[in-house]
Amino acid sequence: MKLLLGVALLCWTADMARSMTITTTEGMFEKAKGETVHLPCKFTIAPEDQEPLHIEWIKSPADNQKADQEIILYSGGNIYDIYSEDLKGRVYFTSSDPKLGDASINITNLQLSDVGTYQCKVKKLPGVANKKMQLSVLVKPSGTRCYIDGSSEIGSDFKIRCESGEGSLPLYYEWQKLPNTEKFPAVSFSDLNPSIISVRNATTEYSGTYSCTVKNRVGVDQCLLRVNVVPPSNTAGTIAGAVIGTLCALLLLGLLIFCCCKKHKEEKYEKEVHHDIREDVPPPKSRTSTARSYIGSNHSSLGSMSPSNIEGYSKAQYNQVPSEDFDRTPQSPSFQPTKVAASNLSRMGAIPVMIPAQSKDGSIV
Ligand SMILES: *[C@@H]1O[C@H](CO)[C@@H](O)[C@H](O)[C@H]1NC(C)=O
Ligand SMILES: *[C@@H]1O[C@H](CO)[C@@H](O)[C@H](O)[C@H]1NC(C)=O
Repeated sequence: MKLLLGVALLCWTADMARSMTITTTEGMFEKAKGETVHLPCKFTIAPEDQEPLHIEWIKSPADNQKADQEIILYSGGNIYDIYSEDLKGRVYFTSSDPKLGDASINITNLQLSDVGTYQCKVKKLPGVANKKMQLSVLVKPSGTRCYIDGSSEIGSDFKIRCESGEGSLPLYYEWQKLPNTEKFPAVSFSDLNPSIISVRNATTEYSGTYSCTVKNRVGVDQCLLRVNVVPPSNTAGTIAGAVIGTLCALLLLGLLIFCCCKKHKEEKYEKEVHHDIREDVPPPKSRTSTARSYIGSNHSSLGSMSPSNIEGYSKAQYNQVPSEDFDRTPQSPSFQPTKVAASNLSRMGAIPVMIPAQSKDGSIV
């Protein structure tokens, strides 16, 4: 029987190799904790290898103080996997019949303790061959936390931090302000620690949603953080005053321009009358142009307000003032201040200015 098997193997492998060889070449494996690794070990037998086949997998732990350990064995047609307490139930031959040339194994539910050098040894005397391979088990980043360190008030300094709960080094951090199209404010990324954004003299521009992505070689994790840069609570009254001041200035400016234009048109009208008395004088278009110039000034005045402030301070109150004024102007449908959204303002080219600048405006009035 043995002879028959030997002859069969001899015929099958005669032209494949002169001596026993392990044909697998890969030597490095990297997996995440909990995953399954496939450690390949394919071999060919030489005609002169007549003795029974013996396959052995040995692990040399990363800690070289620890002894090598038998992890799985194939001998006399039987499989023995009782040697390692650590790997019990997690290691098996992937081939249903390893003697056909495949001594590969799988290790499931990988643990950090599985890190080490694995050696596949195949013996069919006089043939012997062995192959070493390296297994590293990495932990995916997880439990990542985003938080603000400090007070996120206007004018204050604070840090936005990202911390990975666990994950094998090296970890790579990346911050982004959402949505992706939004321009990141000029912040200083700490050179030493890319997981921290340092904000100095905060403005409302820093408000928004930030995402931190943590990566290592085996996985990715992410956390989101909503940052609201708010006015310092004790100066809220001052800022409210500044807003009202700005609105008053706006109203005054509007009135001033209204009057100027009216006067200008009246002068023009008089000139035209002098120039050609017989010709019918067209109805004064002054209303239209007055309304337009008013709009122009209104826009530029609005520009001094940052959109977020308009949202922050009673929108209704703000909108009331110009619309009241427009109710008196006949040609108002072309401009409806209540319908100018904050976002439109910035699209129109309004430059958001921070609140401290406004309080200066306010103090002028
Ligand atoms: C061995 O593990 C690999 C993943 O590394 C898997 O694709 C393969 O199906 C597994 N083989 C067996 C026999 O379980
Ligand atoms: C903070 O920003 C405001 C507005 O831009 C500026 O007036 C002020 O000087 C800044 N303060 C510091 C300490 O940089």
